[in-house]
This record gives sequence, structure tokens and C-alpha cells, in this order.
Amino acid sequence: MPILLGADAQVANHLRTVLPPDSQVVASAEQLLQWLDSHPEEYAVLIGPSVDVPSAMALAERLRMTMPTTTVVLLRHDVDTAVLTQAMHAGVREVVAADDLTQVGGAIQRAHALAVALRSGSAGKGREGGRIITIFSPKGGVGKTTMSVNLALALMRGGENKVCVVDLDLAFGDIAITLQLFPSHTIEHAIGGEQYMDEEFVRQLMTRHDSGLMVLAAPSQPDARERVSGALVHRLLETLREHYDYIVLDTAPAFDEQTLTALDETDECIIVATLDVPTLKNVKVALETLDVLGVAEGRRHLLLNRADDQVGIGADKVEGILGMSVAVQVATSLDIAKATNAGRPLMLSAPSHPSSKAVRSLADRLMGVSSASTSSPSTPRTQASPAAPASSDKREDSPRRFRISRR
Ligand SMILES: Nc1ncnc2c1ncn2[C@@H]1O[C@H](COP(=O)(O)OP(=O)(O)O)[C@@H](O)[C@H]1O
Ligand SMILES: [Mg+2]
Repeated sequence: MPILLGADAQVANHLRTVLPPDSQVVASAEQLLQWLDSHPEEYAVLIGPSVDVPSAMALAERLRMTMPTTTVVLLRHDVDTAVLTQAMHAGVREVVAADDLTQVGGAIQRAHALAVALRSGSAGKGREGGRIITIFSPKGGVGKTTMSVNLALALMRGGENKVCVVDLDLAFGDIAITLQLFPSHTIEHAIGGEQYMDEEFVRQLMTRHDSGLMVLAAPSQPDARERVSGALVHRLLETLREHYDYIVLDTAPAFDEQTLTALDETDECIIVATLDVPTLKNVKVALETLDVLGVAEGRRHLLLNRADDQVGIGADKVEGILGMSVAVQVATSLDIAKATNAGRPLMLSAPSHPSSKAVRSLADRLMGVSSASTSSPSTPRTQASPAAPASSDKREDSPRRFRISRR
């Protein structure tokens, strides 16, 4: 159960409305550490606004080393970039305004989902079939959907590869609209179909774009999201792997059950970041979470979108902050926004555009094709054979992965 330190009676009472009933409230860091000693499975530590920033950071640093799977949530009356930056470095997973109960509740739910996923961890298994490429960012509006669609089109290599996109932004997915598609079926129609799911069943739910790209759209109503279980996502991806060379997953900006399942199945994870401190802070925390979960280690690729924005942070600083190199940079371009609005992705409307080229270079890298090469992939393969690995990492060498419970 979450434990809260550093909240006066009024704040604590306010927070109690969103905390699970048996949450603990303690008055000192010593009491907190004592509690954690006897409750090593604790999933969330909330550091309240009356703990000063240096003490909060020291505590977060300590917990990062001693309890890396416990989520530390920092509650502040004012959240500013200075605090966010420090929190990011100290390993705080969430910084939330103390009076924003919705955000506090959301942070606790995410902490719990992460703990559940970690507890049911088990070793990964070797996988057969197509490769799953997940586009992820803990932030919305950074270009995940735009990049998913353009990357999927690039991976098709003019029809050489069979590619599909699954819109796992289940509440607010906009892959279909980005491609000007009007799906008659969506992933919602797969609910309850886990037992008899096969290629034909899934194909009937997909919508074909005139490029040949197959799309499994998100439900039309956000409330369907809760009924798409992790087990369903797992079964779906298993089925798609057997029939597609590349399965591109667009995701919601959250570690929800469906996203965690997708990450668990992921072969290559594209992390999308932009040049603003809150996004970078969240991406840093997300990367740490992926580390803890053992997701796509050595097979993560940082895509820096809007990389030319003159905002005082450059790609080199991003690499320093995130501790990973930028795999590809895409500049801000009105043409991208126009292409989205016109429902005709840049990869199709302007394949020679610098942004199209940048995304294609990432696709080539994922396919194990030299960017300079315009010929066939380096590894000759038939449509039914597994896709070429993107890097020296072999799938059999996959690190230990978590599993979330499959019903
Ligand atoms: N590099 C870019 N330059 C200009 N506009 C962009 C760029 N990348 C994305 N956009 C625009 O930003 C908006 C949000 O992008 P989107 O892909 O929907 O983000 P997300 O899926 O992460 O929420 C869209 O209107 C898109 O056209
Ligand atoms: Mg999106």
C-alpha cells in the first residue's frame, strides 16, 4: 500500500480521498525507512510538499538504489522545471501537483500496474515470426502516431514486406484518421475472441490502406479501452507475428496494462522524445522503467522529433540527459503537419522529403539494411520467413522480460 511522508493533516486528508484505504502516513524519513524495511514489496512512496527539495532528492536517490522497483512520487505545491530536472536525476518517477487529485490517483495506479507486472515476471522465450516494433513515449503530442504510420510505410519497402499497424492508443487512437480510413471494425471487435483467434479472424477486423498497409484501428469509443485486456493484446500479437514481417504498434502515453503487454512482446522499441524538459524528464523515467522491466535492452532507438527547435537544448544535451544516443532526428516541418491534416502521410506524398528520408533511415536500420543501399535487404528472405534482426542482438538472447498475468 502506498506510504506518504511529509504532508500536514490538511494535505494528508485531501490526498486520502485518492489513496487506497490502508495507505500509511508517516511523519519522518526514519519512520518511512523503518516501514520500508519491513515492507520490501511496497510499490509507491509519496514524498509530500512539506519535505524540502534537497531532502526529498536525497531520499529518492537512496530509494532508487535500495528499492529500484518502488515508484517514488514527488508532490509539490508548485511544479517548476528546476524541480523536474532535479527529480529526473534523482530517479523520481512522477512529479505531481499536490492538489491535483486526478494526477495523484493516476500516479498511484501506474505504480501499482508496474508492481503487478514486475511481480509476475518470468524469463522471456525465443520467438518466431515477424518483428514487433513499438513506438513509445510517456508524453502525448510528441509524434508517436505520425512516426508509427510513416515508419510502417517505410518498412513496407514498396510492397516487399508485409506490414501492419496496430493502434494501441485504445482510448484516443488516431491512426485511422491519420490515414483517412473509416474502419468498419476495430480491435474492440476482438474482445472475447481470444480462444478462437486466427489470421482470418484478425484480418476481418483490419482495414486496408491503399498503400497495402494493414491497420487494426483503435475502438471508436474511449470506454472500450478497459475491455481490451492484456491477454487479448498478447494473443493478437502472437497471431499477427505469424503473418506479418513487421507489426508496428502505436501506443498510449502510459504504462497501462495493454502497453506493458505490448512492451513485453516488443523486439524493437522506438522511444520518441522532443526538446522540452518535462518530456525529457518523463522519457528518462520511462527508460529507467524499461530497464527495470528488461524491455528491449540493446534494442531501443531514440527518435528525436522536432529536433531543430531552438529551445536551448540540443541533441547532444538530450543524449547526456537520457544516457543513450539519438538514432534519428526529425526536424519540425509544416509539411508533416499538413500531411497529417490531409490524411496522406509524408512517406507517400513526399518520399524524398528530409523527414521521410530520416524515418526511412530508421526503418533501414531496423531491417538490418544499410541506409546507402537501395537494393534488397541484406538478408534474402521470403515473405513467410522471420524478418531480419535489426542489430547484433539476437532474439534468442532476449533479456529476462516481465510477464503480466494472462487471464
Ligand atoms: N516533426 C514534426 N513537425 C511538425 N509537426 C509535427 C511533427 N511531428 C508531429 N507533428 C504534428 O504534431 C501533432 C501531434 O503528433 P502525433 O503524431 O499525433 O503525436 P502523438 O501520437 O505522440 O500524440 C500532429 O498534428 C502532427 O502532425
Ligand atoms: Mg497518438
